[in-house]
This record gives sequence, C-alpha cells and structure tokens, in this order.
Amino acid sequence: MQKTRRAALLLIPALAAGIALAGCTASLDGAAPKKILVAGATGQTGQLIVSELLADGYAVRALVRDTAKARKTLGDRVEYVQGDVKDPASLTAAFAGTDAVVSAIGARGARGPDRPEAIDYQGVKNLVDAAVAAKSRQFVLVSSRAVTQPDNPLNRLFGNVLTWKLKGEDALRASGVPYTVVRPGGLVNGPAGEKEIVFEQGDTVRDQTTITRADLARICVQALKHPEARNRTFEASSRPGNPVTDWRAKFAGLKPDQP
Ligand SMILES: NC(=O)c1ccc[n+]([C@@H]2O[C@H](COP(=O)([O-])OP(=O)(O)OC[C@H]3O[C@@H](n4cnc5c(N)ncnc54)[C@H](OP(=O)(O)O)[C@@H]3O)[C@@H](O)[C@H]2O)c1
Repeated sequence: MQKTRRAALLLIPALAAGIALAGCTASLDGAAPKKILVAGATGQTGQLIVSELLADGYAVRALVRDTAKARKTLGDRVEYVQGDVKDPASLTAAFAGTDAVVSAIGARGARGPDRPEAIDYQGVKNLVDAAVAAKSRQFVLVSSRAVTQPDNPLNRLFGNVLTWKLKGEDALRASGVPYTVVRPGGLVNGPAGEKEIVFEQGDTVRDQTTITRADLARICVQALKHPEARNRTFEASSRPGNPVTDWRAKFAGLKPDQP
C-alpha cells in the first residue's frame, strides 16, 4: 500500500510535465517552449514570421537595426537586440540564449552597403557563423527560387541577388547547423492557409510562381516544429487547391540534401 502511494506521488510531477508538454505547440523535438531569433523581423515577411511564432507559443527575439523604430512596428510582444548582419560582433549577443533562428533578411538595394553581396551572402554567412558559435539547433533561411539560374533577369537588375543568395545558402548547408532552406516564388501579400502549397526541389521551374508572405511565414515556423524539414532545400509556391493539413507529411515528402 505504502509502495503504491509512493509510486503515485512520484508519478504526479511526471504526469503534470507530460500534460504541459502535450499542450505546448512551441517545441523543437517535443521539448519545452523555445526562444527563436528572427533576423529581418521588421521586414514584410519577418513581421509575419514573428506573429506566427508568437501565435504558436514561441518566445521571440528580434534582431533589428533600430530598436526604437522596430518597436513601433512590433510593439512589446518581442525582445529586441540591436545589430546589423554586416557586423559579426553584434550577432553574438543576438544569438545568446536562443535555440534557433529564422532569417528573412534581404538586400535593400542593388548597390551600396546593403547590396545583395553584403546582405544575402556575407550577412547570411555572418548569421551562420554566429549560429555555429552559439550551437543553434536549427537555422531556417528564406532564400528565393531561381538562385541556381544565373541567367535569370533578376540577377542583372538587382546586383546578382540570386547568385549571392545561393552563396549564402551554401554557407548554411556547409555549416553543420541543422537547417531548412525555403526558396519562395514571387512574394505577394494575402492570407495564409487558403491555397495549396507546392514544394519542389532542384530549382528547375522557370515559370513565375507566387506565394503569400503569410504562407511563407507559416512554412518557416512549421519547419521549426518538424524534424522532417531539417537539412532540406526546397522551392515553395502556391496554387488554388486544398491548404496543408499535415505539415509533417508535407515535409516528409522532401528529399534530404546530399552532403
Ligand atoms: N519580393 C519577392 O518577390 C521575393 C521573392 C523571393 C524571395 N524573396 C526574399 O524573401 C525575403 C523576405 O522578403 P521581404 O519582401 O519580406 O523583405 P523586406 O521587407 O525587404 O525585409 C528585409 C529585412 O531585412 C532586414 N535587413 C536588411 N539589411 C539588414 C542588415 N544589414 N542587418 C539586419 N537586417 C537587415 C531589413 O531591416 P530594416 O527594416 O532595418 O531595413 C528587413 O527587416 C528576402 O530575402 C527576399 O530577398 C523575395
């Protein structure tokens, strides 16, 4: 009797922990809620990634270039770290105490200090190096479709943006940090969850495709929740059809990248 009572008492905290975990949507590998660093949090997609993370119960740290300005957009829902992806020293503090990172940074012009080479390649590489040093558990990178198509007109018009994005992706794939590289089609504004999401691999599609920034944000956050999304590179677009109901199955349909 005494033995049974002791066992029951021991079980109570374990059961309580189980209930807490079962009710918790924000988890990497089913563990406790996690803190996610969002680079590019003030951008059009970044803001939606922040909202999606918060809605899913994650704690968010926003890497921003101007905290006062960012606070006007993102409010008090997130923690801020001021930094610049061109300044590696500023990234150490940004990563400290976070579990994973989602990056939706992007060059702001074809030339100048924030040109694609400096942001989409070197800036991403600086983030990757900081993620390695911080032993980040996952890095979700928003890249672009057509990065392996050097003749794409966007390269000519926008400082070789696609080619620099590919170099940024390469740095991530070579880093050893578990990653997900999402290559969206043209970004449009609109709701999430209203269309069929199409994943493709190999970057062979030459037609223009689109996806809403809200759907893209959802993909990024779902990628944190499903180990099946790790070490995958894929294009993402949408078309009329049924929205995703089973993200695990959706990611499981992707082939892992060859090392
Ligand atoms: N537009 C499209 O059709 C399309 C298609 C495929 C892929 N993409 C890619 O998708 C991603 C998201 O696009 P978007 O339209 O949502 O981007 P966006 O609104 O232009 O946002 C870019 C973000 O990057 C940040 N950033 C730029 N330079 C930075 C630096 N030096 N340090 C820290 N942060 C910096 C910006 O911060 P500030 O607010 O401080 O400037 C901003 O938060 C980008 O990588 C873009 O290239 C876009």
